[in-house]
Amino acid sequence: MIETNPIVKGLLTIHKVITRGLRTSIQKCDEYLVKQAIPPEEAAGFTIYLTSLRYITHSHHLSEDDISFPIFRDLIEAPYNQLMDDHVKIASLLDTLDQQLSGLSFAGIGNLRTLIVEIESLWLPHIRIEEENFTSDRIDKVIEKEKQVKIVEKMSRHGIENSGPGPTSLPFLFYNLEGKEREDFMMHFPWIVKKILVPIIWKVKWKPMKPFLL
Ligand SMILES: [Fe+2]
Ligand SMILES: [Fe+2]
Repeated sequence: MIETNPIVKGLLTIHKVITRGLRTSIQKCDEYLVKQAIPPEEAAGFTIYLTSLRYITHSHHLSEDDISFPIFRDLIEAPYNQLMDDHVKIASLLDTLDQQLSGLSFAGIGNLRTLIVEIESLWLPHIRIEEENFTSDRIDKVIEKEKQVKIVEKMSRHGIENSGPGPTSLPFLFYNLEGKEREDFMMHFPWIVKKILVPIIWKVKWKPMKPFLL
C-alpha cells in the first residue's frame, strides 16, 4: 500500500531507518565475534554508524515527545504514558551506548551486542504500538491535511536540530533507505544538500560508514 498521509509516511520512514540501523549493527557484531576481530577498515566507520544511530533515535523520540504526542494526545487514543516511558528507557540505554563507543575495541563487542539487542527489544514493540495507533484513517479524521503538512515540517526542523552532525547524520538517514523510499525522503532536502554536500563535500566524513549502508 502506498502511504499518502505525510505524518504516517514520515513515521514509517524514520522507524525503518532506525530498525535497519539496529539490525545491521547486531549483524556486524556477530560478524566480528566470528572473526574474533573488527576489520581495521571498518573500525572507525562502525563507531560513526552507531553514533549516528544514537543521535537519530534520540532525536526522533524528542520530536514525538515535543511535537506529535502533545498534538495527538487530545485527538487520538493511544498509550502515551507507556510510549513516553519507553523513550526514557531507550534514552538511558543510548547513554550507555555512547559510553561503550568511546575507545571501542574487539573486547567490547560482546557487551555492545547485548546492549543493542536490549535496545531493539524495546524498540520493536514500541514502534508496533505507534504504527498501530497512528494510522492514516485515525489521523485524517481529526487533523486536516494542511495542518498535517505543517506538523511534518515542524518535526523535520526539530529533528535536524537534534540529530547531531549533518555530514554523518544525513548520509546515515539517506543510505539506510533504498529505492523509492530513499527518493521520497530525499525530496524534502535542498538540492545543495543532496547533490553537493552529502555526495561530494561531506563524503570524506561519512565514507568510513560505507560497509554499513545501502
Ligand atoms: Fe516513539
Ligand atoms: Fe516513533
